Amino acid sequence: FVTGALAGKKVVITAGPTREAIDPVRYISNHSSGKMGYALAQAAVEAGAQTVLISGPTQLAAPDRLEFIAVTTAEEMLAASLQQAAGCDVFIAAAAVADYRPVQVAAQKIKKTGDANLTLEFVKNPDIVATIAALAEKPFTVGFAAESENLIAYAQQKLARKNLDLIIANNIAVTGIGFNADDNAVTVIDKTGQQEISQRSKQQLARELIALFAQKFKDS
Ligand code: C5P
Repeated sequence: FVTGALAGKKVVITAGPTREAIDPVRYISNHSSGKMGYALAQAAVEAGAQTVLISGPTQLAAPDRLEFIAVTTAEEMLAASLQQAAGCDVFIAAAAVADYRPVQVAAQKIKKTGDANLTLEFVKNPDIVATIAALAEKPFTVGFAAESENLIAYAQQKLARKNLDLIIANNIAVTGIGFNADDNAVTVIDKTGQQEISQRSKQQLARELIALFAQKFKDS
């Protein structure tokens, strides 16, 4: 018998970076550690949710008592997310998905040439959270906005453009919080308004966010 604010609910969380191959030995990615997404997954488990963590490559150990799906690319993360969307109550997109991937993955290692410059062509990756939020059976959908300027305005635009129910805005220009840090400070924004949560550990913040999502989901 499971108790907690999310007992009997299915929560799916994306976390970490994605990695897009250039050739058999090289890739493009970003500095996302996965810490916020893993902390949210842990907090969802503690709140009694049936939890699925879909993760790009990170250095973190998968938390216990959840279904862990390891992916590499944005396209793999999208496929896993669509598969897990069935019966999903709350979808949380904490992953730092690569916006673009190389148009072609070279079959062989790209060799150095006599030229000083090398040009690679990129194509846009699918927007995972926007795809989930466009489903006929849309879960309560939460996104993140990591911004270095115009934080609230950009986050509000993303909330609307991606059809999210809630967005967590964090200012990556502040040292000690956000990307790769152990702490975070965020502004939670939805259609009804916004609320600030000051700097604290990602574990503590995750528990508070999960409690908030559970409440908002219940009221939705
Ligand atoms: O547009 P931007 O990348 O800043 O949006 C961030 C939010 O959208 C995050 O919740 C991120 O997980 C999600 N996202 C996504 N798929 C993408 C790009 C972003 O799910 N291709």
